[in-house]
Amino acid sequence: HVVALVLAGGIGSRLYPASRSDRPKQFLPISGDRSLLSQTVERAGFADETIVATRPRFADEIGDHAPDADVLVEPDGKDTGPALTYATHRIREEYGDADEQLVIVALPSDHRVDDDAAFQGTMTAGARVAAETGRLVTFGVTPDRPETGYGYVEPGAARETGGVGFHEVAKFHEKPDAETARAYVDAGYRWNSGMFAWTPASFLDAAADSPLVPLVDALAAGDPDAGFEAVEPVSVDYAVFEGAENVAVVDADFAWDDLGSWDALDRVLAPDDDGNVALGEYTAVDAADNVVASDDKHVSLVGVSGLAVVVYDDRVLVVPKEDAQRVRELVSVLADRG
Ligand code: GDD
Ligand code: MG
Repeated sequence: HVVALVLAGGIGSRLYPASRSDRPKQFLPISGDRSLLSQTVERAGFADETIVATRPRFADEIGDHAPDADVLVEPDGKDTGPALTYATHRIREEYGDADEQLVIVALPSDHRVDDDAAFQGTMTAGARVAAETGRLVTFGVTPDRPETGYGYVEPGAARETGGVGFHEVAKFHEKPDAETARAYVDAGYRWNSGMFAWTPASFLDAAADSPLVPLVDALAAGDPDAGFEAVEPVSVDYAVFEGAENVAVVDADFAWDDLGSWDALDRVLAPDDDGNVALGEYTAVDAADNVVASDDKHVSLVGVSGLAVVVYDDRVLVVPKEDAQRVRELVSVLADRG
C-alpha cells in the first residue's frame, strides 16, 4: 500500500514577492496554467491514496487545488522535519503496524517534472526499495550545475532488490556553498530531489535518533501540540537525513526542477532572442538574460543583464539571478521589521 504524502506547507520565501505569507509558491501557476500543487497531486496517481500535509494557515486553501485529496494539518508550521514526523506518525496510527508493506512517498509541491510516466515508474521502484530493505529512500537526480539550493547525496555501494537497482548512501550533504557544490558535481554525487520513500517504522526510528526526538516522544504520548512546541523549525534533510545511516538513493531519469527561486524560471520558460524570460508583460531594450515576473504591471528593462526583476502587488524585487537563493535572507530582514 503506497501513500503519496504531498508537502504543501512551505512559505516559499525565495519567491518573494509573488509568494507572500498568504500566497506561497505551491498555490501559484508558475509552470503551466494550474498551480504547482494541483500538478503535483495529479502526478501522484501512482499511489493508492494521496494526502496533502500543510500548516494551519493554509488549511482552507488546499481544497481549491486538490479537491479529491485528504488534508492533514500539522499543529504548527515548523518546516519539513516536524511536518513529516507528524504525518508519518498519523499515517501509522491509521494503519497500525500490521501492514508491513505500507510505504509513504513524500512529494514536495514546488517541482516540475516533464515525464509523468517515467516519474511514476521511479516512485513505484523507490517504494519497493523502501518496503523491501527498510531503508530511507531518496530519489537522486544527476546534476548539470553546481546548484547551492539543493542537497547532495554521496553514493556508496550499488545494490539491488527485486530487480530494482539502488545505491547505498555514504553521506548526505544539505545545501553546500558554491565551491563545495562544484566538488560534489565533479565527484559524481546526485542531487537530492527532496522526494522520499519510507516505511513509517524506518522513518520514526531515524527521527527518534535526531533533534526531532522530543516530537517523536510527544506523539507517542498522544500530545502533538506539546511536541511541536518542543522542537525548533528544521528541515527533514538537516534533522534526519544528514545523520541517518540506512539511506538509499534511487536514480531518477526524468527531467526535474525545483521551482523554488526566481532563477529557475530560466529553465522552464521560453526565452526571447536575447535570452530574457518573462511571466507577464515586458519590454526589453539592449537587455539580455534577465528574468521578469509580474502580475499586472508592465516591466521595462534597458541595458541590464543577468537580473531578476519581480513586481507583485505593491512590492518590487531586483536581484542578480546568481544571488536568487539569497532572497531568503531578505525575507527574514523584512519579517524582523514586522
Ligand atoms: N506541510 C508542510 N509544513 N510542508 C512544508 C513545510 C511545513 O512546515 N515547510 C516546507 N514545506 C513544503 C514546501 O511547500 C515544499 O513543497 C517542500 O516542503 C520542500 O520545502 P522547500 O522549502 O522547497 O525545500 P528546499 O527546496 O529548500 O529543499 C529541499 O528540496 C530540495 C530539492 O527540491 C531539500 O530536500 C533539498 O535537499 C533538496 O535538494
Ligand atoms: Mg523546494
